[in-house]
Amino acid sequence: MRHHRDLGPNARLIGEPRSRQALATPALILDLDAFERNVKAMARLCKRAGVSLRPHAKTHKSIEMARRQIAAGAIGVSVATIREAAVMVKAGLPGVLLTTPVVGAVKIDILCDLAGNSEGFMAVVDNLANLSELEAALEKRGKRLAVLVDIDIGMKRTEEPDVAGALALIRCVRVSRVLTWAGLQSYSGTVQHIASTVNRERVYGRQLRHLTRVLDGLDKAGLIPGIISGGGTGTFDIDRRAGLFTECQCGSYAVMDIEYEEVQLFADGTHPFKAALYVQCMVVNNNHREWPTVDGGFKGFSMDGPVPRPARGAPPGAVYQFYGDEFGKIKFARKTDSLKLGSKIEFVAPHCDPTVNLHDFFHCVRGNVLVDIWPVDARGSL
Ligand SMILES: Cc1ncc(COP(=O)(O)O)c(C=O)c1O
Repeated sequence: MRHHRDLGPNARLIGEPRSRQALATPALILDLDAFERNVKAMARLCKRAGVSLRPHAKTHKSIEMARRQIAAGAIGVSVATIREAAVMVKAGLPGVLLTTPVVGAVKIDILCDLAGNSEGFMAVVDNLANLSELEAALEKRGKRLAVLVDIDIGMKRTEEPDVAGALALIRCVRVSRVLTWAGLQSYSGTVQHIASTVNRERVYGRQLRHLTRVLDGLDKAGLIPGIISGGGTGTFDIDRRAGLFTECQCGSYAVMDIEYEEVQLFADGTHPFKAALYVQCMVVNNNHREWPTVDGGFKGFSMDGPVPRPARGAPPGAVYQFYGDEFGKIKFARKTDSLKLGSKIEFVAPHCDPTVNLHDFFHCVRGNVLVDIWPVDARGSL
């Protein structure tokens, strides 16, 4: 039995009628029905496409949500930071893939701790010097680690090896006494939010051609990658048609956000994923006629994308403006509009990953009832 205090000030409300409206705010809300539908829909789409799903847990940083994705058919989870990796591995989750190359002695040491402690745990390498450092640390600890070689197809965030460079890296992994070559990873973050499928496909298509060249080069050298992992929610439809990847790393689909709502995800016009993530705020001041103030600001919402969009509780046409660390203001569409002190507004998260990282808990709701509270287990840096 978890102690109420472990789950924050709203724990006492779990299971109470109309508890969604009673939450202490700002509160991160997870609409469980929408989350479950999104998780099921992606599992079904991957199965139909013949690819495995290793959803990116960087989106939610939650053990419970990762468990539910695996229960619905995912082969494991992807993670972006060594801290996320440690949280998921320690929770006993299988198939954890750390998708970011691990640089620096302290983090490599943590990576060595994790190696061998979890079924199917893998990391990535994209650089010869980094590979040597990793090998030396593993050898010293008497550990082995399976790795994917990262192929940068256009983002220029990881190393950008041409075909010869990729081959050289893979050969180094293959002769290593402590590393096992499990395959390739390619992810292109910059194309995920190109709004129209036609434009996204044009830019990403060029990048996938580079991946095809690398795969052809490997084929000629007799090297067949067991795993080709990559892709996000924005490229899923293109990836499944291109047929290059053996598994997809989509993350945002599980909870969605305003950024992705504005993207035409599928060429056939379908949009199977619905917003499941909200931040509930309270009107904490309505003394000023021009605007009421709510208790969610820079510390409650990510600021790298669109402004939070009121989904319920605000008069039609009302918009949010940031108004400080802890505050926002509501600008009304009509002079006659008003909001009562203490009333609640729920906003769709602007960008899911960095918004989640600002909060300690998901307040899980079904309809008007708070049914559970899940910690954002891997919240924070590293
Ligand atoms: C390496 C990697 N794979 C997959 C994803 C998931 O992308 P999305 O959240 O757009 O589905 C990300 C997100 O940043 C990522 O960095």
